[in-house]
Amino acid sequence: MSAVKNIPAIQVENLSKTYGSGASAVTALRDINMTVHTGEVVGLLGPSGSGKTTLLQCLGAILDPSGGHIALGGETLYDDGWKYHDRRALRRDHIGFIFQRPYLIPFMNATENIAFLPMLQGKSNRMAYQRARDLLELLEIAHRADARIEQLSGGEQQRVSIARALANDPPVILADEPTAPLDSHRALIVMKLLHQMAQKAQTAIIVVTHDENIIPLFRRLYYLRDGVLHEEQGEGKPL
Ligand SMILES: Nc1ncnc2c1ncn2[C@@H]1O[C@H](COP(=O)(O)OP(=O)(O)O)[C@@H](O)[C@H]1O
Ligand SMILES: [Mg+2]
Repeated sequence: MSAVKNIPAIQVENLSKTYGSGASAVTALRDINMTVHTGEVVGLLGPSGSGKTTLLQCLGAILDPSGGHIALGGETLYDDGWKYHDRRALRRDHIGFIFQRPYLIPFMNATENIAFLPMLQGKSNRMAYQRARDLLELLEIAHRADARIEQLSGGEQQRVSIARALANDPPVILADEPTAPLDSHRALIVMKLLHQMAQKAQTAIIVVTHDENIIPLFRRLYYLRDGVLHEEQGEGKPL
């Protein structure tokens, strides 16, 4: 699943998702088609309840789609059923997921919450901790490196969870409203870091957002309305 030129990092065809069945069924995604290339950071917009989280979680192999096709780096992941044998390894090694709310491990400090993923991937403790410290520095929370999670503010916890999603340099990053709990200065720092990752580390990134300050930064935007996806050109304002 390495980055190969011209093979899209993320390719979605006719993806659908229905929650439940019968009279209570809710169709959250209808026939979604989407292509994201390595090095791109695309925005995913849409009103509340339009299916943004559902789409991101299907792409992140967290939620089961109802049908369609998903390929990452040219490798089929889902084709009317999961094709990848070990979805936990897939999530660990290939997908950085930033959740709408930070899910951090309460008995580990900020640095440990970030370093444990590279360690699970087989990196040495020294390298994993170095990577965690570098990310804390870039996100301007190095001074909170040893803090317990309960001692961190909501915005600090969110930045730790962003650092954790980036720690393994995954080829795909899926971010669900990552800047919602952050002020505009910190939101821009996060967006800068994501753009740097996209360019330097050959990553493809989808960012769900309502944030008026960051929407102009995207060159390409997808809009979801009632589970139907449309593509539009963005402003691509430089950071
Ligand atoms: N676990 C679930 N069970 C049933 N319906 C759900 C579930 N999760 C989300 N939905 C419904 O799917 C639709 C899309 O939700 P969601 O993907 O969370 O939208 P968004 O992230 O754009 O706010 C909504 O109608 C929501 O109520
Ligand atoms: Mg959502």
